[in-house]
Order: sequence, then structure tokens, then C-alpha cells
Amino acid sequence: MTHAEHHAAQLRQLMDDPRRARELIEGSCVLGADFTAWESMRRPLAYALDRPGTLLDVGCANGLLLRCLLAWSVHPLVPYGVDVNEDAVRAARALLPEYATHVAALSLAACTPEELTRRGLPTSFDFVTWSVWDDLDFSQDWHAAYLERALALVTPGGRLILAFYDPDARATQSKLAWLTRRLGDPDGQIGPAGQGTRFAWWVKEPQTPRAPSTPRGVTDARRA
Ligand SMILES: C[S@@+](CC[C@H](N)C(=O)[O-])C[C@H]1O[C@@H](n2cnc3c(N)ncnc32)[C@H](O)[C@@H]1O
Repeated sequence: MTHAEHHAAQLRQLMDDPRRARELIEGSCVLGADFTAWESMRRPLAYALDRPGTLLDVGCANGLLLRCLLAWSVHPLVPYGVDVNEDAVRAARALLPEYATHVAALSLAACTPEELTRRGLPTSFDFVTWSVWDDLDFSQDWHAAYLERALALVTPGGRLILAFYDPDARATQSKLAWLTRRLGDPDGQIGPAGQGTRFAWWVKEPQTPRAPSTPRGVTDARRA
């Protein structure tokens, strides 16, 4: 059995009971969706995971997205999660028992290298997924500081993958416009134009010196 088949079998077992499936989906902050609806919203994210590697989900809730990405990705992944909510972290540890030590009760703002090391977590990851909270529109300094912190968690050559589920497509477009000004054009995007749900990712460039006249990509944006 391949890793993907192993994880797919585990996921099928979890989702077999529709009531349990709904509870798990609600534990990931999505109300009233069955597994088919959840999968159609979340599965495109797996496409952005283009190779084996470590994956951190920022705001992992009960770990359902991580559990699903293990099954949906064609590449073997080592999952990690942080969430500010301690109950969610307990639930994530229960849902990912083999990776229980990979989940920590931490705010994104507190994910410094020192704090991650103190919790026994790596300080950077090949993939960082972050479902940008609907109430975070990058209009305030602390919103931008969150983005900087998320970027700092990506290994050079890795991907910062942002997900937007706001039903208000204009809100998502304006967040993406802000992010594009800050980080350059995304290196990849998925999602129907004119609808709220969208995924966009940026590759973190290696820390090589660049001419100031060629701003592009995450490294430059962080210097700006
Ligand atoms: C909508 S759920 C996302 C669940 C999963 N990542 C997904 O995309 O399906 C958002 C989660 O972010 C967490 N959260 C909110 N603010 C946070 C912060 N500052 N740092 C870490 N997690 C946070 C919430 O507790 C919640 O569990």
C-alpha cells in the first residue's frame, strides 16, 4: 500500500459516518457542509503541493485539512499544525495521533524560531498553508506583520500557499491585489474568477543578493 492509499483508507474510515464527518468539518470552522462539499472546497489545495516535504497548516483547527491533504496529495508529506485555540489543538492531536507532537497551541504571531524550537517543531517548512481569516484584510499593520511571520516560516524554495474562502469575491480580489503589491504576482493560482474561493501561492526565493531594480518574489517583498 502506498502512503497515499494508506492515508486515503484512514480518511474514508473517518468520513464513513456522515454525522461524524459533519462534526469534524464543523471542528474546522465550516458549518453545514457534508464531506462532498468540504472536499470540493479544500481539495484543490493539494495541487499546490508539488513535491514531498514538510507542511505547516497555520490555524490548523482540528487538523482535518492536514488529515485530508495527507490523503489527497500524490506526494508524501510530513504534517505540522499550529492553532491559537487549545481545544482545537487537542482535537488535532487526536485526529493525527501519529503526528501528535507536530501540533502546537501557538498564535501565528508567536511562531518565532525560538518558540518553535522550544516546542520541538522545525523553524521552517517546505509548504505553509494559511486559510486567510475572512476578517483579515491586510488593512492594518498587524495584518501585514502576520504575513511577514508566515513568510518567515517558509524554507527557501518552498511555497507560501494562501487560501481564501470569503463568499465575497470582491473582498478576496482586494486582498489578492494587496498581496500582489507586496509579494509580486503569485507563482500559481487556482479558483474560478469572480468567486470567493481562491488559492494563491508564492515561492520563497533563495536568499541571494538581488539588484534593487528587479523586485520580484517573496525575498524582495520582505526587504521592501
Ligand atoms: C477556518 S479555521 C481553518 C482550518 C483549516 N486550516 C482549514 O483551512 O480548513 C481557522 C483557524 O485559525 C485559528 N486561528 C485564528 N487566529 C489565529 C492565530 N492568530 N494564530 C493561529 N491560529 C489562529 C482558529 O482558532 C481556527 O481554528
